[in-house]
Amino acid sequence: MASTPQRKGAQPGMQVNGVPYRTIFPAEDGRGVLVIDQTKLPHRFEVVRLDTVADAVRAIATMIVRGAPLIGATAAYGMALAARENAGDAFLQEAHRALIAARPTAVNLRWAADRLRALMLALPRAEREGAAYREAAAVCEDDVAACASIGRHGAALIEKARTTGRPVNILTHCNAGWLAAVDWGTALAPIYCAHDAGVDLHVWVDETRPRNQGASLTAWELASHGVKHTLIADNAGGHLMQRGEIDLCIVGSDRIAANGDVCNKIGTYLKALAAQDNTVPFYVAFPHSTIDWTMASGADIPIEERDHAEVLEIAGLDAKGGVSSVRIAPPQTQAANPAFDVTPSRLVTALITERGVCAASREGLETLYPEAAARK
Ligand code: MRU
Repeated sequence: MASTPQRKGAQPGMQVNGVPYRTIFPAEDGRGVLVIDQTKLPHRFEVVRLDTVADAVRAIATMIVRGAPLIGATAAYGMALAARENAGDAFLQEAHRALIAARPTAVNLRWAADRLRALMLALPRAEREGAAYREAAAVCEDDVAACASIGRHGAALIEKARTTGRPVNILTHCNAGWLAAVDWGTALAPIYCAHDAGVDLHVWVDETRPRNQGASLTAWELASHGVKHTLIADNAGGHLMQRGEIDLCIVGSDRIAANGDVCNKIGTYLKALAAQDNTVPFYVAFPHSTIDWTMASGADIPIEERDHAEVLEIAGLDAKGGVSSVRIAPPQTQAANPAFDVTPSRLVTALITERGVCAASREGLETLYPEAAARK
C-alpha cells in the first residue's frame, strides 16, 4: 500500500522516489498509524497500518519497525492507539507493560511509553485519547528536530576530516539512518548533511550479520540518496583501517549509560577496538531519548537475545524474485544470538547529540545536559 505522509514544517526530509516520507505518520483518518515495513526492504517498499496497541507491539517485536528512536515513536503512538481502544487506567497500564516488553535494549521505547503514560494518567479519561495523539506527534517532531541537529553537528566533524585528493571515507555499522528514526537518522544524518553540502564522501557499510540491516537498509538509504557507498562483510573493517581506507567511524546507539558507555548493534565493540588500534576517530550519534541516566555504566544494560534462526539461516531474494531463507549451518548445530554489545566509553572519541559534541563521559554528557546533572 502506498501512502503519502502528512508533513509538518518546511523541511523536506528524506524521500522515496521523490516523495517525502517519514517512517511513521498518522493515517488520513487521524486514528490509525502508518509505518514503513522494514522487513520487506530493500526488495519491496510497503507501508502498513497499525490500528491497535497489539499491532504496535507486534510491529516492534517483529522488527517491521526497528532502530531506537523509531521504536520510541512507535511506542508513543502505541499508547495513543491504546487510549483509543480503552482509556481506562488498567488498560493503559497493560498497554505500557506490553510495549516496553516488546524489545528490551533500546531505552527510547521505555522513555516514550513512560512519557505517554504519565501524561494520560494525569488527565480525566475523556481527554486522554486526544492528548495522547498530540503527544505522540510531538515525540516525532522532537525526534526529527534532534536528528536534523545531530546532522549539523556531525557534518562539521566530517568536514574537518576532509583532505585533498580523495573522498572522506566513513565506516558505519547497522542502520542508524532515517529508517531507524522518524527522519534523517542519527549516524547517517551527518553523512546526509555533509553530502548535501557538497562534501565528497564515501561510506563503508558493514553488512551487520545476522539480520543484515547494513546490507538491506543502510545500503538502500544511501543508494536512494545518491551517496557513494560500498558494502563490506563485517570482518573487513579492521583490515580497511590498517590500510588507511577509513578516516572515521560513525555509529548510532540503543542506550547510552550515564558514564558514556555505548550499547549498540552487536559488532560495534569490535569496530571500536579496531578503530582505537588504528587511531581512527570513533563517533557515536544519538538524541537525548537514548541516554539512560539511571544506568551508571553499560554493564547492566539488558542485551536482547534473538531467535537463533537469524544466525542459522540467511534470507535474500531468490531467482524467482521472492524473498526466502536458506539454512547455512549443519542441522545439529546450535547458535547464540546476542543482538547488541557495549562499547566502553574509553574507546569512543566523542558523542554527537542534538546539543553538540561532547566527551564520552559523565562529565561530557552533563555539560550538554545540565538539567540531568541537577536532578541528581
Ligand atoms: O536491532 P535493530 O535494527 O533495532 O538495531 C538498531 C541499531 O542497533 C541502531 O544502530 C541503533 O538503534 C541506533 S538507531 C538510530
